[in-house]
Parts: sequence; structure tokens; C-alpha cells
Amino acid sequence: MRDPRAWSRRDFLGHAAIASASLALLNGCGPKRSSGSGYRLPGVDVSGPHSLKAHAMDARMLFGFAVNTQKLRDDAAYRALVEQQCSIIVAENAMKWHALRPAIDQFSFADADALVEFAARRHIRLRGHNLCWHEALPEWFAKQVTAVNARQLLRDHIRTVAGRYSGRIHSWDVVNEAIEIRDGRPDGLRNTPWLQMIGTDYIEMAFRVARDADPSALLTYNEYGIEQETQEAAMKRAAVLLMLRRLKQRNVPLDAVGIQSHLQAQPANGYGPGLQRFVQDCREIGLEVFITELDVNDRTLPSDVETRDIGVANRYRSYLDLLLPERNVTAVLTWGVSDAGTWLNQGKDRAREDGLPQRPLLFDGQLRAKPAFVGVRDAFDARHQAGALRGTPPSQKPLPKL
Ligand code: XIL
Repeated sequence: MRDPRAWSRRDFLGHAAIASASLALLNGCGPKRSSGSGYRLPGVDVSGPHSLKAHAMDARMLFGFAVNTQKLRDDAAYRALVEQQCSIIVAENAMKWHALRPAIDQFSFADADALVEFAARRHIRLRGHNLCWHEALPEWFAKQVTAVNARQLLRDHIRTVAGRYSGRIHSWDVVNEAIEIRDGRPDGLRNTPWLQMIGTDYIEMAFRVARDADPSALLTYNEYGIEQETQEAAMKRAAVLLMLRRLKQRNVPLDAVGIQSHLQAQPANGYGPGLQRFVQDCREIGLEVFITELDVNDRTLPSDVETRDIGVANRYRSYLDLLLPERNVTAVLTWGVSDAGTWLNQGKDRAREDGLPQRPLLFDGQLRAKPAFVGVRDAFDARHQAGALRGTPPSQKPLPKL
């Protein structure tokens, strides 16, 4: 007999009927329901063969979360969920400059080391995030870094950090968010401190130094704001592709693109063929694609928790259905483990007007699976069942030894 706790596709079809009922609510029809304690189907089994990592593996993919290293150390339930669901993880903050660099001549590796050890012991792959970004720079940066020492500083940072974990990192986000159309440059490059102090070749330099420091990590360019069908996103995609093509032409070591995927539950123009084409263009220049920071901002959805959870689940599902048929998409990571720790509840600019916390992830504050969990799992199953993926396999490098 089927394990009654398992949530199968058939269950999800029933669930989808509830989904359309809830979506009807969004349009102002259907009965009103109280927001209560949160909506979830009872008894969904998320363990072992029902976990996201198991379903992702059947679809020849990796699944994971961005993790908070402190919670991983102090919260046993959080740690157990990470072990249960993830074949890959990434530090939400612990490998950024401000975490690793207390002073210009100092490194502080305690948290990052602990994460690397945790991942290795549990045979979970680890992404490195990130080596070069215009944010998360330490306070001393603005005062002490100049055009004279910037190049050396960036080079030394990458050599030291990527070198320390060489052979133990699945992929490094070498450069994060280097394109910004609004900065008005013809090449689309963001006017970052690195660009100002080093010049446009800082990107190429960062990738070359990273390859030397860790030859087995997949070197990744990670970007946001390229997902929607808006003109702005289309321009950004074009600028990203142009940059990636130029890097490839110059034999810069570059293996993958990270599409951050901070999604909106109700985007102005939706997600569609422009993004799909971008993934295919990446494949044509030999790049894998990772969905690196997936979450769904629910600020435009009504207060009702059930309605929101269904809206968020449907967004996860339709977004993954758009991208997972592409063979070069090989990993999906959500930006956080549960709604309790999401960055979307940190800043005022991301807050909901009704003052309620956002619910953008797959697990609620009590670490219970939400409808979005099933949405993601079903998307993995759909990729698995479709069998034939678009495109030839990406040049699979052997995974780093654990
Ligand atoms: C965010 C973290 O989630 C927050 O905790 C932190 O305060 C700011 O940075 N794009 C990225 C991530 O590449 O590093 C950001 O993470 C979210 C946007």
C-alpha cells in the first residue's frame, strides 16, 4: 500500500484544484476564508525518497538552500532539514568580503571553514558566494582601498579564499552583479568600486586568478534582474550575454551562469521566452546554468495565508517548468531555508503593506513543507518524466572530491 503520508502527483492535482479556487479568490470571487494558522496539506512526507534532493537527482539536478551558518550550528531542526533536502548548499553571507575580512591585512575563516567541513562530512556539495561584488564590502574598504592597491587586493583575496578551499567547492560565484544598464555605459558594466579602481578587466582577472587557485570549481558569473519579459530585463540579458561571449572569446575560464531568480508572485510582464532563449544562448557558448537564489516575493498578494501560499507555489512551478526542460540547467537553490529567516523580511523596501511577514520559501517558520515544496518537487518530476531534455549535455566536469 502507498505510504499515506506521501504526497504524490495525484494529490497535487487535487491540490491544484484548491489552487484554482484560491486563485479565484485573488480575482475577488469565491468564498472568503480566514487567514488562520497557515495553509498546508496534512501529512506530506518530505523525507528520504520524497525529499527534494532525491527528486532532483532523478532529474539529474542538484537541489539546495542558501544557509545561515549560525543556525546550522545552533539549531538542530534546521540542520536536519538541510541534511534531508540538500545535495548542494551555499553560504547566505559567510563567504562574503565583510564576513571574511575584518581588516585589510586579516582573514577570519571560522564560519566558512565550519561550513566547508559540514558539507564535506555530509557529502553535500558547496557553492562559494562570492569573490567579487560591489556590496558586502567591509567598512575599511572605502577608506583603505585605492587605485594603487585594488588590483593586488582583489587578486590576493581570490587566491587566498579560493585557494584555501580548493578541490572542495562545486562552483564559485567569481563575479556577482557586474551589469547595470542604468549606469549608462555602452558596455552595460556597472560602475562599481572595482571597475573604477581597476578598470574593465577586473572581471577577466578575477576569473583567471580563481581558476589558478581552484582548478576544479565551476567558475560562475551570477546576476539578477534578467528574469522578466520587461524591456529592462531584456537589455540586461543582452549586456550579460555580450560580456560572457567576449570573455569566452578571450579564453577566460568561465563555466556557468547563475540566474539569481528573486521572483515576484505577480510580475508586471511575467517570465517567458526571453529568459528561455537566454539559457539556450548560454548553452551555445558552453555554459551551465544554475538557478542560484530562488525565492518568490509575495508583497502584491492579499493577506490571506492560504491564497499567498498557493500563489507562491504556482510561481515556483511555472518558473521551473519554463527552465528545467533546458538540459544545461543543472542546479536549483532557494535563497534561504524557511520563511522565518528570509532576507525579504529584512529590508523596509521589501515589506508588505499590511505589515505581515513575507512567505517566499518552501518551508514555513516551523519548518513545515508548504505547497511551494510540492510545486518544486513536481517540476523536478516533470523534467525527469519528460526524459528528452533540450540541447546536448553540458561539458560535465567531474564533481569535486568530497
Ligand atoms: C543578501 C542576504 O540574504 C542578506 O542576509 C544580506 O543582508 C544581504 O545580502 N543577491 C545576492 C545575495 O547575491 O548575496 C544577497 O544576499 C541577495 C541578493
